[in-house]
Amino acid sequence: MPSHSVFPKTSEFPLTAPAATIAAHPESPLMSEKPAYSPGLEGVIAGESAISYIDTTLNRLIIRGYDLVALTEHASYEELAYMLLYGDLPTATELDSFNATLRQERTVPEEIVSILRQAPASVHPMSLLRTAVSALEFHDPDATDHSTQANIRKTIRLIAKIPTLITAGHRLSQGQEPVVPHDDLGQAGNLLYMLHGKEPQAYEIAAMNVSLILYAEHGFNASAFASRVTASTLGNLHAAITSGIGTLAGSLHGGANEAAMEMLLEIGGKDQAEAWVLDALQQKKKIMGFGHREYKNGDSRVPSMKAVGRDIADATGDKDWVETADIVEATMDREKGIFPNVDFPCAYTYYMMGIPIPLYTPIFVSSRVAGWAAHIIEQLEHNRLIRPNHIYTGPEEKPLQPLAERG
Ligand code: COA
Repeated sequence: MPSHSVFPKTSEFPLTAPAATIAAHPESPLMSEKPAYSPGLEGVIAGESAISYIDTTLNRLIIRGYDLVALTEHASYEELAYMLLYGDLPTATELDSFNATLRQERTVPEEIVSILRQAPASVHPMSLLRTAVSALEFHDPDATDHSTQANIRKTIRLIAKIPTLITAGHRLSQGQEPVVPHDDLGQAGNLLYMLHGKEPQAYEIAAMNVSLILYAEHGFNASAFASRVTASTLGNLHAAITSGIGTLAGSLHGGANEAAMEMLLEIGGKDQAEAWVLDALQQKKKIMGFGHREYKNGDSRVPSMKAVGRDIADATGDKDWVETADIVEATMDREKGIFPNVDFPCAYTYYMMGIPIPLYTPIFVSSRVAGWAAHIIEQLEHNRLIRPNHIYTGPEEKPLQPLAERG
C-alpha cells in the first residue's frame, strides 16, 4: 500500500461496512501505485502543433518556420497575423487585401460601445475586454458558422476591433469620447492613435509593432491551452478566445507586464533597485516579469524588446527606467540565476511611451488573439476532446445523513 493513499488498507476495515466503497475496493485503481503526474503539467506533452517551436537550446522562437527575431526586423504585425491564420507569410497582394479588410472592420457596434459606457470606471480593462469580445459574437455574421474559413473571418474582425475596444474603453473610463480609427495607419499606429487621439511618431509605431510581434504566439502556454480546451469541446471561436483572455489576465501569465511596471514604480529608481530586490527575495516574493516555465537561460524575445526599450529611452531622453531595470536584472541573475521574460522590458517600454499600465495586458491580447485563433483552428482540424485525469485525494465514501439527522 503506498503511504500517500487516503484510503485505509483493506485489512483495516470490513468490506461490508458503509465505508467499503467501490473506490476503496482492492481492485480499484486508487488502491494501486500512485501514477506519476507533473504539477502544473510541467514537461507534459499535451498535443502536437505546427504553429511554433520554443527552442530552449538555441534560445529562439520559431513561428511557422521563421525565426521570431527575423520577423521583428523585417515584418509587420499584420504579416505575422496573416501567417498565423493562413500558414505562411502573405504576398504583397495578399497583405494589401488583408490590411484593407482589417481597416474596414475596425468599428464596433453601438451596442458594444454601450457595454463599455456602462461599465464602472473601476473595472479592469482586461475584464472589460473579455466581456466585450464575448459580446461581439452577438453581432458577428459568421457566429453560427464553425468552419475554418469562418473562424478566420471572425478572427480578422477580432484583430481589427480589439484595439478599438481597448482604447474606447479606456477613454470612456477617463470621461473622454472614443477616437474614430485612422484609415491610413496599421495595427500598431492605429492603436496608439486611438489611445492618445493624435498621430504617433514613427519610432513609437515601430516599438509597438515589435511588441505586437513578440506577443503574438508562444506555443502551448496557459492561455493558448485554455483556448484549445474550449475549442476541443466544440465551444465556438468567441468562447475559446474569451477563455484565452480570461487566462492571460493573471499575473503569472500576461498580467505580469502590468505587475512588473507596478513593481518598478514601487522600487522608485536605480538607487533603490538592488536593495529592493534583495529584500523582496528575502521575503520569498516573486519578482514580476522574471522567470519562465520553458526558458531557463533567458527568454528569446527579451533581446528584441530590450533594444526597443533602449530606442524609446533614447528618443524620450528618459534613461531612468532602463537603468533601474538593468539593476533589477543584474541582481536577479546574481542572486537567483533567473532572467527576465518579455513582459519586463515590455512593461517599461510601454510606460515610457505613455501607455496607461492597465492597458498593457489588453494590448498583449490585441496581438495574441491571432496566436490563439491559430491554436483553435489547429485543434479543430485534428480534434479530440481534451479531458485529462487526476489523482483523487478526497475522503473515501461515507454514509449520507438525511438533512434532518445532520448535527
Ligand atoms: N521571482 C523569484 N523567484 C522566482 C521567480 C521570480 N519571478 N520565478 C521563479 N522563481 C523561483 C521560485 O520561487 C521557485 O523557487 P524554489 O524552487 O526555491 O521554490 C523556482 O524559481 C521555480 O519557480 P516556479 O514558480 O515553480 O516555476 P514555474 O515554472 O512554475 O513558474 C513562472 C514560471 C513564470 C510562473 C514564474 O517564473 C513566475 O511566477 N514569474 C513571475 C510572473 C511572470 O513574470 N510571469 C510571466 C511569464 S512569461
